[in-house]
Amino acid sequence: MNTTSPVDCKSWPQLQHHAESWREARLKDLFANDVARSIQFVAEGAGLRYDYSRQLMGAITLRLLANLATERGLPEWRDALLSGEPINSSEKRAAWHTALRAGKDSPPEVLQTLDRMKGLVSRIRSEKKFKRVVNLGTGGSDLGPRLLADALGDSTLDVRFAASVDPHDLGRALEGAEPQSTLFIVVSKTFTTQETMANAAAARRWGAKAFYAVASNVEEAKKFGASEILPMWDWVGGRFSVWSAVGLAAACAIGFEKFEQFLAGGRELDLHFASAGIEKNLPALMALIGVWNTSFLGRATHAVLPYSNALRLLPAYLQQLEMESNGKRVDRAGNEVTYSTGPVLWGAEGTPSQHSFHQLLHQGTGVVPCDFIDIASNDVLSANLRAQADALAFGSEDGQYPGSRPSSIVFLEKLDARNLGRLLALYEHKVFVQGIIWNLNSFDQPGVELGKVLAKKILSGGK
Ligand code: F6P
Repeated sequence: MNTTSPVDCKSWPQLQHHAESWREARLKDLFANDVARSIQFVAEGAGLRYDYSRQLMGAITLRLLANLATERGLPEWRDALLSGEPINSSEKRAAWHTALRAGKDSPPEVLQTLDRMKGLVSRIRSEKKFKRVVNLGTGGSDLGPRLLADALGDSTLDVRFAASVDPHDLGRALEGAEPQSTLFIVVSKTFTTQETMANAAAARRWGAKAFYAVASNVEEAKKFGASEILPMWDWVGGRFSVWSAVGLAAACAIGFEKFEQFLAGGRELDLHFASAGIEKNLPALMALIGVWNTSFLGRATHAVLPYSNALRLLPAYLQQLEMESNGKRVDRAGNEVTYSTGPVLWGAEGTPSQHSFHQLLHQGTGVVPCDFIDIASNDVLSANLRAQADALAFGSEDGQYPGSRPSSIVFLEKLDARNLGRLLALYEHKVFVQGIIWNLNSFDQPGVELGKVLAKKILSGGK
């Protein structure tokens, strides 16, 4: 498999040269000169639609980017990812999150764990012994289940989350709760994460008796004394783990049936990713357009704007997924790269975002490529979204709005568990493809360690 530098690919200097001709391009002219643009630059797959017609690119750009993906060996890497080969080279592990949602093709231990989760969730939701469920976890052990619960949770159970080492976070999650009717789910792959362990200890001090654990480090979870311990596997990275027992609190919030639909949606996207040609492949397209904007047009940040209150936590989820995966300055071999990699990802729910930072999106000195997420079932939201995308792209006659600011739109027919599964899997594979192009290992996170070591030292009185 190709682990050389992308700059050695034939298409890399071609793209650099090609990018020069796009510096002054105007989206308004592109649409005026090509009536088919709004149809041509749209791809569909796994029930999602991706409109990238408002990106500063053309058919030749797409061809060159697809050539780059082929030269980087994307099809081979994709097969290796999907078949569970140890592509996380630094940790010598697979990144086999797709096996968590493969239906009957999932490994037996996954199916057994899903079965256990089903039993636990239906008991917790029907028995009413617990009035409150509190997820204690951070990073990948928090952001995914929190997003799912916030987006799709019903009123059957009060499910809360505490992720910070600041006691106020847990305090808020426990407001109005009683120890005897509160279940804590302590989620930590390593079961050593400071924030999570501190919150679990605080929950004990508060008088809690009911603890479940989700962990890969089963020994530590046993020592802690959880009554149920569900597995995490080392072949699943934290930020890719919402599909596993890490999603237990989310499944409590939304019901197991919806959790299964979420898995099924992810699976549909996997099958699309596995089979569609590069120029019709949604995650590949998204990834390549991101590479184009970042490495060739020099855009340093990327905004994600879901026009859906239910998806208000999506930007935070994607921040970990994208920036912990591809926020890297050395390649697979540890050599410093000479090109820009993962951009800063930021964003917020529209329409409130329009009354906040859209000023900068329209008229700031930096250009920020945007992903708009459109839930087609709400006309008012869709109209606002479309207005923003058009204003960014086409600007205004009087020149106050410069236009030619790129964006894409991801369309979901409606917000449900299946579509949320499709959407998260879409971004997961996008991140993977970008890692392949940039020659990064997207599945480790060495950059988070130094801070942990220093904080410990400072706490113990060291300088
Ligand atoms: O410190 C970063 C990190 O390791 C993330 O990658 C992970 O999602 C998070 O911490 C939580 O880790 P754990 O599940 O082991 O508590």
